[in-house]
Amino acid sequence: MSPRAAATSEADQLAALVEDLRAREVGACELAIVLGSGLGVLAERVEDARVVDYTELAAMPRSSVPGHAGKLVVGRLAGVRVVLQQGRVHLYEGFGYHEATRAVRAFASLGIIKLVLTNAAGSLRLAWNPGTLMRIEDHLDLQGKVRLARKQAANGSPWDKRLGAALDAAARHVDVALERGVYAALLGPSYETPAEIRMLRTFGADAVGMSTVAEAQAAWAAGMRVAGVSCLTNHAAGVTDSVPNHEEVVEEGRKASKRFCDLLEAAAPRL
Ligand code: HPA
Repeated sequence: MSPRAAATSEADQLAALVEDLRAREVGACELAIVLGSGLGVLAERVEDARVVDYTELAAMPRSSVPGHAGKLVVGRLAGVRVVLQQGRVHLYEGFGYHEATRAVRAFASLGIIKLVLTNAAGSLRLAWNPGTLMRIEDHLDLQGKVRLARKQAANGSPWDKRLGAALDAAARHVDVALERGVYAALLGPSYETPAEIRMLRTFGADAVGMSTVAEAQAAWAAGMRVAGVSCLTNHAAGVTDSVPNHEEVVEEGRKASKRFCDLLEAAAPRL
C-alpha cells in the first residue's frame, strides 16, 4: 500500500469513528478521560451513564490486555459532561501510532476541549510507594513513534499548566496526596531491567510506563488541553527487591481507586 493510500484509509477510519461517536452524542461532552489499567472504576461515579461498547464502533481499536474493558461511558461526573474511555490500545500490542491515538483525535474532532490521560506506572522513587498518585508534569518519549508521525505531532510539551494547577487544587480540596513528576514511556511489553531504571533515573524520570505520550502529543496537536495522572502501582525494577508484574499493577490500581476517583471527581468541574 502506498503511503498516500494508508493516509487516506486512516482519514476514513477517523471520520467513521467521529460519525459513530457523534451519533451517540459523545460530541456533547466537555471532558474526556482515558482510564488506565485497573482504573476503570471511575465509571461508577458517573451519573446518567450510557455505555458504548467498542464492538459498536467499527473503527475503534480494541485492546486484549486484562484490566482494559473496551467501553466508553458517557454521562456526568460532578455535573460535567464526560466521556470515559475504559480501555486503550498500546503500541506493544502491535498497534501503530494512528490506532493508539485515534480515539483522542476523534474526541478532538468532536470539539471536546479537555483531556485527562491516566495510567498505571512504576515508581522510580523509593519514597513513592505503590498507590501513590502522580500528576504528569512532563514526559520522556522513549517509544519513538510520535516523531515518525511528525505531521500529526506538535513541538514542545503537551502538558497544560492550567489543567495541572486545577488538578493540584482538586487534590488539596479532597485531601488526596498528589505528587508531580516526569513520566517516561517505553515500548514494553516487558517491564524494565534494573539497569534501565537506573538509566531512566539519570534521565530525570520519576515514573515509567508504556502508554500515554502518543495520545498526549496527538491530542495536543489536535488542539486539546491535556493533563495526566499516573497511579504508581509498583516500585520499578531494582528500586526494591520485588519484580513488577501485571496482576500487582491491576490490584494496586484497584486499591488506590477511591483516592483516584475522589481526585478526578473533584477535578472535573475545576479543569
Ligand atoms: N514499568 C512499566 N510499565 C508499568 C510499570 C512498570 O514498572 N508498572 C505499571 N506499568
